[in-house]
Parts: sequence; C-alpha cells; structure tokens
Amino acid sequence: MRSVSFFLLAVIAIAQEPFRPTIPKVWDEEALRTFELPLATPEASPRHISAERYYAIPEQEVFQSYPLTMPGKTEEEYLAWLREQEPRRIDTAGLRTKEEWIGAGRAVFAWPGGIIPSSRGATTIVIRQKGKIEYGNLNCAGCHTRVLDDGMEIPGAQVDAARLWRDATPPTQQSLAAFVKGRGTGLDAPWLTPDPNAIPAELEIFARLRTRVPGIAARFHSSLWSPANTPSLIGVRDMKYLDRTGHARHRDIGDLMRYAALNFGGGGMSATSSFGAHAGRIGSTLRRFSDSHLYALALYVYSLEPPKNPNPFDATAARGEKIFAREGCAGCHPAPLYTNNKLTPAPGFRVPEEHRRLYDVMPVSVGTDPWLAMKTKRGTGYYKVPSLRGVWYRGPFEHNGSVLTLEDWFDPARLRDDYVPTGWLGPEPTRAVKGHEFGLKLNSNEKKALIAFLRTL
Ligand code: HEC
Ligand code: HEC
Repeated sequence: MRSVSFFLLAVIAIAQEPFRPTIPKVWDEEALRTFELPLATPEASPRHISAERYYAIPEQEVFQSYPLTMPGKTEEEYLAWLREQEPRRIDTAGLRTKEEWIGAGRAVFAWPGGIIPSSRGATTIVIRQKGKIEYGNLNCAGCHTRVLDDGMEIPGAQVDAARLWRDATPPTQQSLAAFVKGRGTGLDAPWLTPDPNAIPAELEIFARLRTRVPGIAARFHSSLWSPANTPSLIGVRDMKYLDRTGHARHRDIGDLMRYAALNFGGGGMSATSSFGAHAGRIGSTLRRFSDSHLYALALYVYSLEPPKNPNPFDATAARGEKIFAREGCAGCHPAPLYTNNKLTPAPGFRVPEEHRRLYDVMPVSVGTDPWLAMKTKRGTGYYKVPSLRGVWYRGPFEHNGSVLTLEDWFDPARLRDDYVPTGWLGPEPTRAVKGHEFGLKLNSNEKKALIAFLRTL
C-alpha cells in the first residue's frame, strides 16, 4: 500500500515538474537550407525568405476555438452559451508543465487558417471578442482527425470524407472557374512547359479529379492530377521524412515546426518561397505562428497516440505474420515501425550520386505512378516507405489514395487498365493502379491472413 502511494506521489511530482524547454529557432537559415530535399528538377527547388524578413511578419494570435455543434444542446442554446464565453488567448508565457504545453499545442492544432463570414465551409468556431461568434476554415485538425463509424474521434489520424467535405456539392462550371482563380497557382509546376498540372477546362474531368474520397486533398504544391494522400500524424515523431515524396527531413522537433510553418493554412509561409524564376510574395494579411506556438504544436503532434486496437493477434494473424516475413515485406516495412524510413526512386528518376550519401535511398523502385514525385512542387523523385502501423483505422492507401481498402491494395485487378479505382479516381473513367506488386499473387486464404496481421499493427 505504502509503495503504491509513494509511486503515485512520484507520478504526480513528475506531471507537475516545471518544464523549461529550449525552443529551436524555426527560421534558422542554415537548418532551412538542408531541411528539404531538392526537387526532381533541382533548379526548380524552392528558396525561402531570409530570417530577417520572416521574423518581420506579424505573429498570429491564437485563441481557444470550439466545435461547430455541441451534443445535448440545440443550436440556439449552444450559440447563446458561446456568446457568454470570455475569449481565451493562448499564450505560452505562463505555461508550467509539459501537459500545459501540449494543451496549448492542441489549441494551435485547432486554430483556423482564416476567419470566414458564415458556418459554410467552417471547421471551427472562434471567440476573439466576447459575444462575437466567428467561424474558421481549415485547421490542422480538420484534415488530420478521423471519425470512426461509431462516432469516436481520433485526433491526428487520416481524415475521413464526411468531415473534410461536409458541405461538398458536385463541382459546377462556376466552382471550376473559382477554383482556377483561387487555387491554381499552388498546384502548378511552372518550370514544366506545357505544365501538365494545369487545371482542366472540362467539367467532367475536373469532377473526376476532385472525387470526394476520404483523406485525399489536392493540397497546395501537389497536383489536381496527382493529389497526396493525407497521412496519419500518429507516430510521425519516428518518421525520418515528411510527405509521401519525402520532401522534408525530420531530424528533430525544429524540423516539424518548420514543416508546420511552411504548410499552415492555404499555402502558409511556402507562399513566400520562390520556385525557380517564380518569386514568392509576402501578402499583407500573412501571419506567422510564434516559435513557441509552433513548439507547443509540435509537442502536441508528438503526443498523439493510436486508439486501442480491437483486432486480436489470433491464429490467422500469426499465420499472416509468417507470410509477411516470407514475402519479404519486412525488408522495407520492418518492425517495430513497419517502415525502414527509406526512400525509393519513382520510375524514371535517376538517383544523383550524392543522394546516396546524404539521404536514405534504396536502390529499388516499387514502380508506382511517378507523377507526384516527378512533376510537382513536392516532387523529389522519391516515394518514402510508409509505416504500416494503424492501417486498421486508416485508408485509402498508396500515395494518391487510389485504393480504399487493404483488400483493394492486394487485388491484382488493380494492375489492369480497365480497373475502376476504389479511392481517388483520376482523370479517366478507368485506370490501372500500378506498382508495388508485393503480395498480389498470394491465394485468397494467405491474403486474408496477411491482411488480418496488418490490421493488428
Ligand atoms: C487541407 C488539409 C490539410 C491541412 C489543413 C493540414 N494538413 Fe497536414 N497534410 C495534408 C496532406 C494532404 C499531407 C500530405 C502531403 C504529402 O504527402 O505530400 C499532409 C502532411 C502533413 C505532415 C507530414 C506527415 C508525414 O508523415 O508525411 C505533417 C507533419 C502535417 N501534415 C502536419 C500538419 C499540421 C501541423 C497542420 C496545421 C498547421 C496541417 N498539417 C494542416 C493535409 C492537411
Ligand atoms: C521494396 C520495398 C517494399 C517492399 C518489399 C514492400 N513494400 Fe509496401 N510499400 C513500399 C512503398 C515505397 C510504399 C508506398 C508506395 C506509394 O505510395 O507509391 C508501400 C506501400 C504499402 C502499403 C500502403 C500503405 C499506405 O499508407 O499507403 C501497404 C499496406 C504495404 N506497402 C504493405 C506491404 C506488404 C504486406 C508487403 C509484402 C507483401 C510490402 N508492402 C512489401 C515499399 C515496399
């Protein structure tokens, strides 16, 4: 009994221990210079603004934000309650424990990229002034939270369609025009002539490219023609490279902060970066998170844990684990992370000699579609080996999210030109989802066992 209470006291003491972090400088020019891998066309690689110009950008204020609805309250009751709330500014100066820092990071994760006039397209409600209800558009949480079928929310996990595209209506000629006007530039590769990423004029093709698939966002610096699958952030602290193309290195917490700074909102700081001859710009409304807000955000992301796995490691899964070993999966997806944290060249990419020294490059390609890796502003020529942890609560799979389930990923029919992708469709009504042929030849029993094993990870 005594030892138990001593143990508890020790735990409480640790939880309350003052936490005095050394916060890395986000815009450290030397760290930034080696932060990103060069693009597949090296001359097109981004150049970032100087530290002096960066720190002259005003800081973003962050307040506590609120969900759009509250269970058990009618809309009227909820809005009335919100009007009573004092604005809660998130200030890191008074934070004492690590838990408090993580709490502040959670608020930054929920802070929107922009304040919008109505609830349409909103992901959150913000109170910056008592009695005034404002709506916010996309925040980190909006793209990096999954809601399971039973309603359980998993912060950090790959987004589901219902949340990201709540107000989605099928594209119209008008929305296509608006898209061209507003978003076009983040999705281009101006060094390619003609640029294959140009937004199509035909509504039918546009509609297919914009299919509302869970987790698929033609995020700026990818392409409407080859969007990037939204990753789960749970476990990202162990990943050496960020983005499907391994575009950014993750050497320490400072790099995660740099990633968040460059990727926040509709382009974030990366709108200030120059690509080749194309100069970036610093808009007058641009704000940067303070280094300490970004530090809190990164601590929060590192603290994300997976939900409890309901899939038992039974006899079938045990058989699956043997098949996993026999088929050589562990060569690239070894335990415990189920990734070797390496990069594989996309078809057609010639690995420059110095990359073998600088990065973790495997000599083999898995042969998946090269577009994202070769023709976009995040395209390094590589695809990283993704971790297989948490595949039971995520999907779609493959860098474009072309297939919805693990069953589809191991279905050899996906290699055929008449295949209808179950995830992101692509420009044509049918399309082969090529490459990564591992496990495709297994018989149906073996495949079931392999998938049962993967679902335990
Ligand atoms: C519009 C949706 C969207 C928003 C908002 C968003 N992300 Fe992401 N995030 C993505 C997509 C899509 C990718 C994948 C990009 C790629 O692979 O090229 C990504 C990738 C990442 C990665 C790389 C992880 C990995 O394993 O490769 C991190 C870290 C990340 N986001 C953190 C954040 C943080 C922090 C915020 C808020 C500051 C944020 N994201 C806001 C969609 C979003
Ligand atoms: C030579 C390295 C290599 C081998 C061997 C390998 N994989 Fe992969 N795996 C990859 C790469 C690279 C990707 C990502 C490809 C892409 O996104 O274009 C991937 C993707 C996956 C995905 C989709 C994950 C996601 O988040 O999109 C699953 C599931 C998977 N592999 C399972 C397996 C299994 C099971 C085996 C063995 C039958 C195997 N892999 C063998 C490199 C490998």
